[in-house]
Amino acid sequence: MPFLASRLDRIKPSPTLAVTQKARELKAAGRDVIGLRAGEPDFDTPDNIKAAAVEAIRRGETKYTDVDGTPALKQAIVAKFRRENGLSYTPDQVTVGSGGKQVIYNAMMATLDPGDEVIIPAPYWVSYPDMVLLADGRPVSVACRENSLFKLRPEALEAAITAKTKWLILNSPSNPTGAAYDRAEMKALTDVLMRHPQVRVLTDDMYEHLVYDGFRFVTPAEVEPGLYDRTLTMNGVSKAYCMTGWRIGYAAGPKDLIKAIAKVQSQSTSNPSSISQAAAVEALNGPQDFIAAHNAVYKERRDLVVEMLNAAPGLSCHRPEGAFYVYPSCAGAIGRKTPQGKTIASDDDFVTYLLEAEGVAAVQGSAFGLSPFFRVSYATSTELLREACARIQRACAALI
Ligand SMILES: Cc1ncc(COP(=O)(O)O)c(C=O)c1O
Repeated sequence: MPFLASRLDRIKPSPTLAVTQKARELKAAGRDVIGLRAGEPDFDTPDNIKAAAVEAIRRGETKYTDVDGTPALKQAIVAKFRRENGLSYTPDQVTVGSGGKQVIYNAMMATLDPGDEVIIPAPYWVSYPDMVLLADGRPVSVACRENSLFKLRPEALEAAITAKTKWLILNSPSNPTGAAYDRAEMKALTDVLMRHPQVRVLTDDMYEHLVYDGFRFVTPAEVEPGLYDRTLTMNGVSKAYCMTGWRIGYAAGPKDLIKAIAKVQSQSTSNPSSISQAAAVEALNGPQDFIAAHNAVYKERRDLVVEMLNAAPGLSCHRPEGAFYVYPSCAGAIGRKTPQGKTIASDDDFVTYLLEAEGVAAVQGSAFGLSPFFRVSYATSTELLREACARIQRACAALI
């Protein structure tokens, strides 16, 4: 009898591990490696949020809280949805977890039976398919090509829906592409969902605030009120509030689903950190002006990276609406040879080449379910980005 559960055979270890390991080795050997892999802001958590956490400790808010969030945080989340999304929820329609990741995981554990299908537009955030698999579900990946700006088309959604489809997971703005749906694009998708009453939508709005050029963010339940009872609207403080380490994510939706998610959480981690919850209250209720200041910097970096990558021979890079990622195609490098005579056969080979030749660490598109691309995170300093892109240009120019 094997000791490790067969469940583990269904999921893969982090697909980014190999390059991370290689980058670490090169660094240890004294190479100057620039990382373009960060999934978190390079800005620090704002001081008012840190102060709220210190205050919470001083007040003695260091005990267990309600399993799925304090009344104060739930109230702040209710107010956030009303203020920013025009969505009306009561506190018992809100759940708080240790990061957005836990909320999604719990939602899958609470709802999936063996064979239930979950539609996941690709390229996708790496964790969705494996979370579905851990919960005994079947991930159904739908390719969203570069020519549709990496967005799910209504006809592709329609074609992917079966009698077993339980969820569609939408993520806008997207990790890894930065693509975001405008109102018309979102309405076209919600129109399809309205024709299939068995399908729920989990919308991962984690990058809601990180949009540029006046883009107006929308979320499914706001665009189609008819989907209100079938939508789990998920969000968190990790990205916009620079709080990845604090581990607070949340969601709002139908009461029975919210209760089921809390039930899973009650037998695993219980409440998220009481101190982090107090900090999240300040994040949501406090001043929001730093978000625009950060976005001005992100936008400048996005434009710099898009321009410099498009100047690299063999690469083409779309200019996305949001998040802090771009997803350039390396199709023009596939089939070429490195100066050392190695053929670039895949995006895995391409990112390995960038790392070995120029000390630039990016993530291969195969990790996100759509090749041949790679993900560049621009959540790093403008000077480093400029240097990294110059190195990528040089590496591409050296291909034979
Ligand atoms: C699309 C997306 N959803 C969810 C998460 C998880 O966020 P958290 O750190 O709050 O668990 C991430 C983090 O990288 C993400 O990119």
